[in-house]
Amino acid sequence: MARTKTTKRTTRARATAPPILLTNIGQLLTLRGSGSSGPRRGKDLSEAGILGDAAVLCVGGKIVSIGSRREAQRDAWLQKNKKNFQEIDCRGGVVLPGFVDSHTHPVFTHPRLVDFEKRISGASYEEIAEAGGGIRSSTDGVRKATRQQLSGHVLHALREMAAQGTTTVEAKSGYGLSFEAEIKSLESVRDAAKQWPGTVISTLLGAHVVPAEFRERREEYVALVREKMIPEVARRKLAGYVDVFCERGAFTMEETRRIFRAAREYGLGTRIHVCQLSESELAPLGEFEPASYDHMDCVGEKNIRALSNSPAVATLLPGANYFLGVRQYPPARKLIDAGVAVALATDYNPGTSPTASMPFILSVACTQMKMSPAEAIVAATYNGACALRMQDRKGTIETGKDADLAVFEVKDYREIAYWVAGPACAVTVLNGIPVSSRPL
Ligand code: NIG
Ligand code: FE
Repeated sequence: MARTKTTKRTTRARATAPPILLTNIGQLLTLRGSGSSGPRRGKDLSEAGILGDAAVLCVGGKIVSIGSRREAQRDAWLQKNKKNFQEIDCRGGVVLPGFVDSHTHPVFTHPRLVDFEKRISGASYEEIAEAGGGIRSSTDGVRKATRQQLSGHVLHALREMAAQGTTTVEAKSGYGLSFEAEIKSLESVRDAAKQWPGTVISTLLGAHVVPAEFRERREEYVALVREKMIPEVARRKLAGYVDVFCERGAFTMEETRRIFRAAREYGLGTRIHVCQLSESELAPLGEFEPASYDHMDCVGEKNIRALSNSPAVATLLPGANYFLGVRQYPPARKLIDAGVAVALATDYNPGTSPTASMPFILSVACTQMKMSPAEAIVAATYNGACALRMQDRKGTIETGKDADLAVFEVKDYREIAYWVAGPACAVTVLNGIPVSSRPL
């Protein structure tokens, strides 16, 4: 098998990621693309780049070689160095790039079981929020928790995600809703990320909703986000992005723009919760070049046209529709057919989408949104990486990329979306470190 030269960076990482050879791969979904470095659109979204009977060698946390199993068996270097690497028998299963879960809210302490029962009895998400439930009811727990307790919750979530094949996670704050509690939330993400072999990208979502104590003086809360949270987060590099929930009952477009101006001033990227419950005109956000527009349930022709000409990704979060029991799902087919780049993510959170499972999201995307299994996989890996602007390192299986891989013990990649709440990932490789519930 042809190997790429290892760089200085991989040499340094080698201490933590010993060489591993994945063999006996029935289907290797490389997702190798047409050469364009942007997100996949239209027909390109179903290019899975499948190789049969394959092997992958990872050294120092990077993919260094991809070939057929035969080539690996005959490879002189591999034969000679057999004792120096760990062989993982994939048992004829499917290997794909680790999922990139590009939208999650893991910093919370309790499930929202009262809201859950109220919704079952007929109350809507917005009615519950107006009555003091919803996002605000997670605030108390986060404010009272220590940083260490919060990082324990985050780490638990990251491990659950890895067990389902996820290797890169975007993690938002957003339930603290005070300067101290938002900073503590991001610190807890950083602490948890240090104990997890995968990759975590943090986002400040101080503007999730206006907290109860600022209800009559929302201007002051927006100023707190702009003038205190954002500068502190930028100074301490606690997050790479700023997110805003731009929606009735949360923040207006004008408030969102003011917050995004501060983000830009401090060199932070932007991403946005928008068009979840009602449609907003997206044009006023264009100047901030958000990496991703998230939810996009309510999106009309004009916004679709604008997005199809934009490098931004529309991140669809159907776990929220499923869990809220909303019959209408994001219009994935319309978006894809119009040339919009779409990603899929879990939206892991206690209010609208308590799932860490990307395979479950794939299942919902296929059955409810009529995405094909190949489209769903590319949207959940490479396009997710684009939504985090990390496609140079993540989202495909190519030499030189980070060794992030998910091994499923199924014969056909379509089974990952087919089996409802199906088999967990057999082995997940995170930056070259294999994690598994089965003996390796
Ligand atoms: O993405 N829409 C806003 N934020 C979350 C829900 C948060 C919550 O209800 O706790 C979402 O769905
Ligand atoms: Fe969300």
